[in-house]
Amino acid sequence: MTADLATGPVFTDEYWVDPYARLSALREVAPVREVEMPEGGSTWLLTRYADCRAAFTDPRFAKDFRSTMPPEQRPAEPLIPGPAGHMLLLNDPPVHTRLRKLVVQAFTVRRIAALRPKIEAIATSLLDQTAGAAEVDLVTDYAVPLPMAVICELLGVPIDDREAFARWSNTMIDNSPQEEKHQAQVSLTAYLSELVETLRAQPDDALLSGLIAAADEDDKLSGDEIVAMGMILLIAGHETTANLITNSVFAMVRDPALRDRLVATRQAGESLAPMVEEFLRWGSPVANAPLRFATEDVEVGGVTIPRGAVVTLSVAAANRDPERFDAPELYDDDRDQTGHLAFGHGIHFCLGASLARLEGEIALSALLDRFPGIEAAVPTGEIVYRHSVLIHALAALPVRLSP
Ligand code: HEM
Repeated sequence: MTADLATGPVFTDEYWVDPYARLSALREVAPVREVEMPEGGSTWLLTRYADCRAAFTDPRFAKDFRSTMPPEQRPAEPLIPGPAGHMLLLNDPPVHTRLRKLVVQAFTVRRIAALRPKIEAIATSLLDQTAGAAEVDLVTDYAVPLPMAVICELLGVPIDDREAFARWSNTMIDNSPQEEKHQAQVSLTAYLSELVETLRAQPDDALLSGLIAAADEDDKLSGDEIVAMGMILLIAGHETTANLITNSVFAMVRDPALRDRLVATRQAGESLAPMVEEFLRWGSPVANAPLRFATEDVEVGGVTIPRGAVVTLSVAAANRDPERFDAPELYDDDRDQTGHLAFGHGIHFCLGASLARLEGEIALSALLDRFPGIEAAVPTGEIVYRHSVLIHALAALPVRLSP
């Protein structure tokens, strides 16, 4: 298997089931290697903690493909048309610096902390809806709708529109056909643009109004930039947090002693925050960071990555590198997880990290408080995994919600 990994495919059936084992084996034989992507094309995959951490702050690994072109050949407009081209994660300094500065003004610690009672109410209401069901799918009944409802609350999407909003965003994010995805994106963009115009006349307390108000001297976000921000928050905040919740519950139903320890922590009136932090390191909800491009030939660990190449930083591999974390494959919430890369590092460090931690803590607490005996409803061998390089995700997690 190791000889295979030095040159052969990485994203095989074995990978979807246990990406960590496969990435660790890859790190041993070829820590900097060009690999085929399942959807076509290739990427250079970095699997050592030290290499990934350094690359996250290396400006030679850019997010905007235009940065790989000689300055005189760079198009003035983003390569991706429409509002999407203004998304934070697709831009480099100085554009990224300006957008992030304006957005941070609206994305305040106070605004996030104020969401706590709302997130608790959302979790309670979702759990209420499972009443009497012998078995539920934790993914579709809890882990996915919870962050979706939180984002609607955060952005200020009116209650009556939430169903359509959730439908468009789910179509955009899940495995729907390309044409349906495109239609959903068009509808969502039109909806957000209209909402931004309405809020300009009648602002409320939510984030979109905060983004409209955010200003740096004479500089403000344009309508398209605000729509792009709404979209990146939706995309970046949705499936990521859903995976944190699902993967953590999956770990607990596979290991009831772990579940019982978390239940006991709650019963002692203590917070699950340290456990959520270890679930972030150990499970890496974003397994591989979204693409970067080499702006020049870059040498990493004796290997030259050529200019223009696609580069992927493997967060899941970095977070389980034995050079950085002792016995990295063990879940151990007593360890010092400082420096884990689950939320990235450097200028693109996750804007929603504190919100994601809060959501994870509330989602797991509410679930275990109500159903301390939660257990798997199917054997582990029957779990179906999604084929995604970006996230390590279960297609479904059938559970029995025993009190
Ligand atoms: C960026 C992970 C939840 C908003 C990132 C990055 C990672 C990440 C790894 C950096 C990507 C890169 O450098 O290529 C996660 C995980 C989450 C989570 C594991 C949940 C457990 C959220 C939430 C929101 C959010 C809840 C907002 C509601 C963003 C945004 C960026 C980002 C806007 C781009 C920042 C920038 O480019 O400056 N996230 N995220 N994320 N995340 Fe998260």
